Amino acid sequence: MGILEINQLHKRFGQHEVLKGLEMDVPEHSIFGLVGQNGAGKTTTMKIILGLLKPDSGSVTVCGEKVAYGETKTNRHIGFLPDVPEFYGYMTAREYLKLCGEITGLSQTKTKVRSEELLELVGLKNEKKRIGSFSRGMKQRLGIAQALLNEPKLLICDEPTSSLDPIGRKEILDILLAAKGKTTVLFSTHILSDVERICDRIAVLHGGKLALYGTLAEVKQRHRYNGFVLEFENVETAAIFAKSKELQHPSISTTRSGNTVTVLLTGCDLDGHFFLDVLAQKRIVPLKFVALEPTLESLFLEVVQ
Ligand SMILES: Nc1ncnc2c1ncn2[C@@H]1O[C@H](COP(=O)(O)OP(=O)(O)O)[C@@H](O)[C@H]1O
Ligand SMILES: [Mg+2]
Repeated sequence: MGILEINQLHKRFGQHEVLKGLEMDVPEHSIFGLVGQNGAGKTTTMKIILGLLKPDSGSVTVCGEKVAYGETKTNRHIGFLPDVPEFYGYMTAREYLKLCGEITGLSQTKTKVRSEELLELVGLKNEKKRIGSFSRGMKQRLGIAQALLNEPKLLICDEPTSSLDPIGRKEILDILLAAKGKTTVLFSTHILSDVERICDRIAVLHGGKLALYGTLAEVKQRHRYNGFVLEFENVETAAIFAKSKELQHPSISTTRSGNTVTVLLTGCDLDGHFFLDVLAQKRIVPLKFVALEPTLESLFLEVVQ
């Protein structure tokens, strides 16, 4: 059973159908990346998970309990960092966490112990400044600490890295990785390298449904290109191979860059043996002969175009 299960979720705003039967399952202790362009429906999905928005149909369960719109019962399992978190600027980070502890009904001792652990985790332990003078990255880090205060089973972060510079992004990603041991993380992003860096599983939301879904390895395996990259000892050998008459075939596209040749096969039943035969005929031994791996970026572009 997943910590979060989404079944056949539909949501429209007026004429605009944003979610068209969304299905996904987030297993425990994973870092799950929800990827999509602006307007894909990431925030809408998160609001429905939190019971803040009513779906037209479909259901969501968190830790086996069904989410009801307007009821916050299932939210006791969830820590949430919204896309634009709001803080009281006159407070320090420590004071803010104390307030959050009071609001959520945590005991004073527990709040104190958790706050210190979390301020350490997010690198704000020695920060004495008021939140009003924090950088965006520091605010996001404090937001994660606040979301983790209640030891949630599921941490949901809406685009936690989007407004940050590369260093700020790396800090957030490292914190999410560190949190993974104790909770399950679902975060949304449109930055693909963030996903490649820390996620076990990804879901690409496009056109109201998931266009790609699974572990990174599964997704790449499923969308493997029928293509190869060959590297040769020198440019001349690469050119001889690239220009050989066998490769002048409507189903083969060949590109050469220096001593590297990339061959792509489309709409034919040729495979790697074909190129091995060509190499054998020409008595050329390549330095490398590897299957072409799709990148997450190339897959993303493929599904959204
Ligand atoms: N309350 C609302 N009323 C009308 N349209 C909305 C509302 N909330 C979101 N939308 C629309 O739904 C689409 C998805 O929005 P959102 O979930 O915020 O996307 P994302 O978070 O992936 O950028 C957008 O086209 C947005 O304009
Ligand atoms: Mg959003």
